[in-house]
Amino acid sequence: MTKVDLIIHNAGQLVTCASDGKPKRGAAMQDVGTISNGAVAIKHGKFVGVGKSKQILAKFEAEQTIDAERRVVCPGFVDPHTHIVYAGDRLNEFELKIKGAEYLDILAGGGGIISTVVRTRKASIANLVKQARGRLEKMLACGTTACEIKTGYGLDTNTELKMLRVIGELENSHPMDIVPTFLAAHTVPPEFKGNTEGYVDLICEEMLPAAADWYSIFFLQKNMRRLFHDLQRADSSRIWGCAGILEGPSEPPVMDFFVDVFTEKNAFDRGQMGRILSRAKALGFKLKAHVDQFTNLGGSRLAIRSGAVSIDHLDAISRSEIKELAASETIGVVIPTENFNAGKTKFAPARKLVDAGCAIALSTDYNPGSAPCPSQPMAMAISCRYQKLLPSEAFNAVTINAAYAIGLGDTHGSIEVGKKADLLVADVSDYRQLAYEFGGNLITKVIKSGEAL
Ligand code: NIG
Ligand code: FE
Repeated sequence: MTKVDLIIHNAGQLVTCASDGKPKRGAAMQDVGTISNGAVAIKHGKFVGVGKSKQILAKFEAEQTIDAERRVVCPGFVDPHTHIVYAGDRLNEFELKIKGAEYLDILAGGGGIISTVVRTRKASIANLVKQARGRLEKMLACGTTACEIKTGYGLDTNTELKMLRVIGELENSHPMDIVPTFLAAHTVPPEFKGNTEGYVDLICEEMLPAAADWYSIFFLQKNMRRLFHDLQRADSSRIWGCAGILEGPSEPPVMDFFVDVFTEKNAFDRGQMGRILSRAKALGFKLKAHVDQFTNLGGSRLAIRSGAVSIDHLDAISRSEIKELAASETIGVVIPTENFNAGKTKFAPARKLVDAGCAIALSTDYNPGSAPCPSQPMAMAISCRYQKLLPSEAFNAVTINAAYAIGLGDTHGSIEVGKKADLLVADVSDYRQLAYEFGGNLITKVIKSGEAL
């Protein structure tokens, strides 16, 4: 018998979302890899056994055992697109929109994102951490165990760096695994009104290098914490892995840090996006882009050709761009919560994307303006109804594909031996119920890195 820390057994459905080392695309998105009467064995925060309860209980012996009582056990959800570091709310804008105002008109009039920028600039780091931590708690309660967080409510060097410090502090102190994204190109700040090129110069020459410097400290701190954690657990295999960083890497690390651009009217055009993405790429950032949310400016094609890990929104993507996306490694992130929040009946063509062979992920886009929603099950519920995704496709879109959309596909998003033991117990006997029911919370237990929260 192999000794492990935790066994979870008697899962009516163990939904693994296992993939063959890459995101799922096209018809493969219908396979969620269910094991009936399944179980997992966990050691040092990772899965060491996945299979039928009988096999796992015969092979492993655990300090702690959880009986899932025939319920669904599935991977923790991954939310690949959020803007949860901000101050204040946008309740006035909510009412303006109910009365007929459009999102882009509110932005053009100096409201929207800019009104959140004004408040975020004034807020202290401690206050922003406190508010964002509350949002992370809501996401965790709804089953999200890893997420991406963007800056983009600073729009000046100091405040954008302040937002990065907030994200770093959250990653240090909260169980959620967090991937940072630098979104200084969220919109043009009032100081640069009429001078978008000047702001793009500032982003390329000052902000991106400063953000890359921030990351080198963040990366070191994160690895030092991991080292101490492994020393405490005496996990020698990982300690040797970590020790490498103490000797100093011969080359700068590949950054698990993204740069994103909002390519849209009243924000950045295709040429400006191209400048920012190519500067970011040269500095070692991975790339993402907000494209085709309202207007097709040709951003999808350029972002795919620039090697973006994901392109997000895609409401106005063209047929030829869908083809190009399907033939690429880039993940399409669709955001049905944004359309729902705007009261729209038109959504990104997720069905067409999957049928064309694209790999797609779903996100909440949790933010104060276009999508105040912490729940990936809610995103699934809307997507199944309005974008005609099957529950199986939606499930892969919030787990394995979402993990790939933020560069975590090798470690997160599925229940497979060697991956991080982030999983959920849901109070349902069929996983499809997680997309079928809406408005409540069916997640009864969240296990993060092998520990029940
Ligand atoms: O993804 N489109 C731009 N950014 C966000 C909205 C942010 C906000 O309105 O504060 C989005 O919808
Ligand atoms: Fe967004």
